[in-house]
Amino acid sequence: MRTVYVNGDYLPENEARVSIFDRGFLMADGVYEVTSVLGGKLIDFDGHAVRLQRSLDALDMRNPISKEDLLDVHRELVRINEIDEGMVYLQITRGAPGDRDFAFPDPDETEPTVVLFTQNKPGLANSPAAKKGMKVISIDDIRWGRRDIKTVQLLYPSMGKMMAKKAGADDAWMIEDGFVTEGTSNNAYIVKGNKIITRALSNDILHGITRAAVLRFAREAQMEVEERNFTIDEAKEADEAFITSASTFVMPVVEIDGVSLGEGVPGRVAPRLREIYLEESLKKAV
Ligand code: PDD
Repeated sequence: MRTVYVNGDYLPENEARVSIFDRGFLMADGVYEVTSVLGGKLIDFDGHAVRLQRSLDALDMRNPISKEDLLDVHRELVRINEIDEGMVYLQITRGAPGDRDFAFPDPDETEPTVVLFTQNKPGLANSPAAKKGMKVISIDDIRWGRRDIKTVQLLYPSMGKMMAKKAGADDAWMIEDGFVTEGTSNNAYIVKGNKIITRALSNDILHGITRAAVLRFAREAQMEVEERNFTIDEAKEADEAFITSASTFVMPVVEIDGVSLGEGVPGRVAPRLREIYLEESLKKAV
């Protein structure tokens, strides 16, 4: 049984409790982060801590835990649960004011809720899925306009994942005004010639921590990066495509809406970027 963290306590997962009045539960009034663990160490913890603060600031939510304490809790959970490869999930909500109200509670009276738990995923780095590549479908992006805030409001991405599964695919890329925004829980890229193309940062997409690292490594490796919108038709004609996220690192995409890319197997660029990403981020893992 896992040991999880709730508001300062380390507890067996079946003893951890959050109030029915918690605004995370009632209003999706909460933010989260997912940090991967490789070799028992946290990948890009700093990036996730910075984005967490950004999400909290955007929602006018108090951060109840310092970065140092947050790192300690992450490490302690990884240690107690003996995680070699996997993830740490962190969620902070605006807390439980003891009733339901659309207005935010007084932050001096209602403590934010902090929950962390681990997910054990042996073989995460050496994933067979990364060798095979994944299939995506395209769906409309009907999410709200502040996708740069990492809120727990994940119903539509969840539905998108189910639409993909129903269509025999692995995930969905979302389309707005004809252009790909991102995957249900990852950033989306295409490769044309030697150029890596991905949507530029804005309120329309999550500012992926993996994205930032991968683009940096790509540039350092003298690969050309173009941050601009691309259509799903352009994607279908690309040489390669891939996604990035903390839970998948770099994952090749080999099929879009039933159209095979290139030979229908992972190409040259995505597997290479995965290799570089894993190698470089392990060096800086904490
Ligand atoms: N998802 N875009 C969306 C909509 C996401 O939910 C995520 C992360 C990303 C990639 O961000 P990062 O590289 O920082 O993980 C992009 C996490 C992994 C999740 O919901 O499980």
